Amino acid sequence: MSFDVAVLASHTGTNLRALTAAGRRPTSAFGVTLVISNNSGSGALAHARAQGIPCLHLSGRTHPDSDVLDRTMLAALREHGIDLVVTAGYMKKLGPAVLDAYAGRIVNVHPALLPRHGGPGMYGIRVHEAVLASGDTVSGATVHHVTAQYDEGPAIAQQQVPVLPDDTPETLAARVLRVEHRLLPDTVQALARAHAN
Ligand code: GRF
Repeated sequence: MSFDVAVLASHTGTNLRALTAAGRRPTSAFGVTLVISNNSGSGALAHARAQGIPCLHLSGRTHPDSDVLDRTMLAALREHGIDLVVTAGYMKKLGPAVLDAYAGRIVNVHPALLPRHGGPGMYGIRVHEAVLASGDTVSGATVHHVTAQYDEGPAIAQQQVPVLPDDTPETLAARVLRVEHRLLPDTVQALARAHAN
């Protein structure tokens, strides 16, 4: 009984790497069996190819019609028997066909303690700039369910990190990313085990 995970990533894919490494452990209850990126030159696709994981470049360039892109992505998820979709640094909104067919089976990792510092435009270094500007003394990572609105789905797991007085957005981002690399695989493992029971 496998628990097949698709990872959607637009850029480097360090969270993807953490997931593929965790998925290969003997105690793992899941495996990453599909990678989709909207960026043909992404580190995520390069990693998938290097690992021999099926991967797809699906974007507004490959599919200018957003409905066709949405249905093409859903067909690929179904063709690979995907049980859970993980967006990790994925900059595109998912379409209604995927959101509907995979309702309750799509999770995202966000580099802040949602509901703080989330929503449209809050991604990448901007999140950490906002945390520092707010004067918050803690930040962290959130794994949450994905819905039609950015970062509004219920949180599944969170992990705090301190915000240090001399932090820059970059030093805070690095501290949060290290936590993401544990929180995301641990959360996917828990979801896979719950699915098996
Ligand atoms: C992470 O900070 C994640 O929280 C955010 O985008 C970044 C993805 O980084 N959604 P990577 O591509 O996994 O390294």
